[in-house]
Amino acid sequence: MCGIVGYNGHRRAAPILIDSLKRLEYRGYDSSGIAVYDGKAIEVWKEKGKISELEKILPDMPGTIGIGHTRWATHGRPNKVNAHPHTSGGIAVVHNGIIENYQELRDKLVGSGFVFISETDTEVLAHLVNHYYKNDLIDAVISALNEIKGSYAIAVLCGSQLVAARKDSPLVIGIGNEENFIASDIPAILKYTRKVIFLDDLELASVSPDVVTFFNMKKEPIDKTINQIDWNLEAAERSGYEHFMLKEIHEQPRSLHETLAGRISELEGTISFENLNITEAQVTDIPRISIIACGTSYNAGLLGKYLFEHLSGIHVDVEIASEFRYAHSAPGSLVIVISQSGETADTLAALREAKTFGCRSIAITNVMGSTITREVDSSIYMRSGPEIGVAATKTFISQLGVLYLLALYFGKSKGKISSDRMKRLLVSIKQIPAQITLILNDKEQIKKHAEKIAASNDIFFIGRTFNYPIALEGALKLKEISYIHAEGYAAGELKHGPLALISKNTPVIAIATKGLTYDKVVNNIKEVKAREAPVIAIADEKDNEIERYVDGLIRVPSTDEILSPMLSIVVLQLISYYAAKVRNCPIDQPRNLAKSVTVE
Ligand code: G6P
Repeated sequence: MCGIVGYNGHRRAAPILIDSLKRLEYRGYDSSGIAVYDGKAIEVWKEKGKISELEKILPDMPGTIGIGHTRWATHGRPNKVNAHPHTSGGIAVVHNGIIENYQELRDKLVGSGFVFISETDTEVLAHLVNHYYKNDLIDAVISALNEIKGSYAIAVLCGSQLVAARKDSPLVIGIGNEENFIASDIPAILKYTRKVIFLDDLELASVSPDVVTFFNMKKEPIDKTINQIDWNLEAAERSGYEHFMLKEIHEQPRSLHETLAGRISELEGTISFENLNITEAQVTDIPRISIIACGTSYNAGLLGKYLFEHLSGIHVDVEIASEFRYAHSAPGSLVIVISQSGETADTLAALREAKTFGCRSIAITNVMGSTITREVDSSIYMRSGPEIGVAATKTFISQLGVLYLLALYFGKSKGKISSDRMKRLLVSIKQIPAQITLILNDKEQIKKHAEKIAASNDIFFIGRTFNYPIALEGALKLKEISYIHAEGYAAGELKHGPLALISKNTPVIAIATKGLTYDKVVNNIKEVKAREAPVIAIADEKDNEIERYVDGLIRVPSTDEILSPMLSIVVLQLISYYAAKVRNCPIDQPRNLAKSVTVE
């Protein structure tokens, strides 16, 4: 997704803009550009491809104020002309989001004599601001934004004035010492400051070196709170790992530990959340839950369904956010949105839709102050720290951690879990971080299995009940980063179609940990073996039976059936990682994908 940075201070802007843009590379982009004001004029440089291509052509730029952008093409091809910043007269603009009425505005502006050189919607904005500009940049930006339908996070440069604004697309202001910053994502400016102010929808900021002033769309000044970010720069760097993904896979014990910290007492068998505004008594009145999410967060939500239904008896629907908006059924009386970034446009839109039904809402998210957290009744933070790799790993584990706690809390409130079982599960869940470490210590063995299947064109992942969402997530990870076609299937469903595709050339990865459906999964393994598929099973360390049915076996530590998905998924993440590595794929930035998708 596109990234925005801005700087106004006492240092040269260009190196800071480039450095900040590089920290957003992980979000995915296809061109980049910067605009710097040198005291006389605005100089704009842009290039197709990586930021390193832009660096090659940059001259020495002495200006101390500027804006920068990484573009992920939506309107118009990924080329130099369409790259941001876009300019009109003495105005330069960078923009994330989509201007829905751009064609109409473009026709109007062309009629007034403006000449367009790009295919982008953003150029409309540059001309509109120019059209309204009469010595006051804030006035001009407000007038321009009043004409726009759609979403935007923008930074506008005009001489020595720098203005930012947002609606439905994230933007933060970084507060430094005699220098201030704009960024679409916190890691961009973490090197320079940990003090940030989150811009809310329909707010603007005028950014000078000494002061940042905030306004609403009526140009009335507004007070904002400074937030201290508790991540450090190291958390957003690779720290010796070859890829962020591998680092983040290894951070999972820590991430889950943080998710659980202070929230459970295994001695008393109790769970508490800092900000959950739902009492045990209120839980008993919840007839139905809707979980809404996209991508990996959706897969976590699907496991959440099994957990809530199994532990609390409350019926759960899990909805893909982009589909939920257009469905005509009412959501459950409690809506849980799961979003690592807290900014996914589809999830946000679905949440807004659900709220029109008067539902109570909870967000499970990793980003404090993100848009979704400001629109729900309560937020539960995953506390994973920044996740940079596009393929979600540690945030998935922590999403699961929150879902386990929430499902157990609901189950206890509804009297569905005995105190003994509760205490046992809490003891077991606390052991999961250490058990993940055991799996990580054995990664060389997993690597060998991955290397064997890395040349395949198609791979199937199968599992049942609690392991079915893990089969989906395993397949998603593999296709995202290794580009191998992969399908996750409920193992019992194979015979209704996909079995036709099974042959000696389609490896099957079966998640076959001990539990209610173990015997059935073993039967499904026999079904695919009968079609000559090579099978790798993920099984309990104490399982002495499965070895004879499979070609490869990866053992995970023993735990309760419902908790084992948190172990199996680590194996699948490592298989994807090593398969992608053999295939020489750009693991942290897979083609066409973005970390946080802020357009619908
Ligand atoms: C993108 C990312 C996925 C992520 C999904 C939902 O597609 O590449 O890794 O799962 O968005 O993101 P969210 O921030 O809402 O969890």
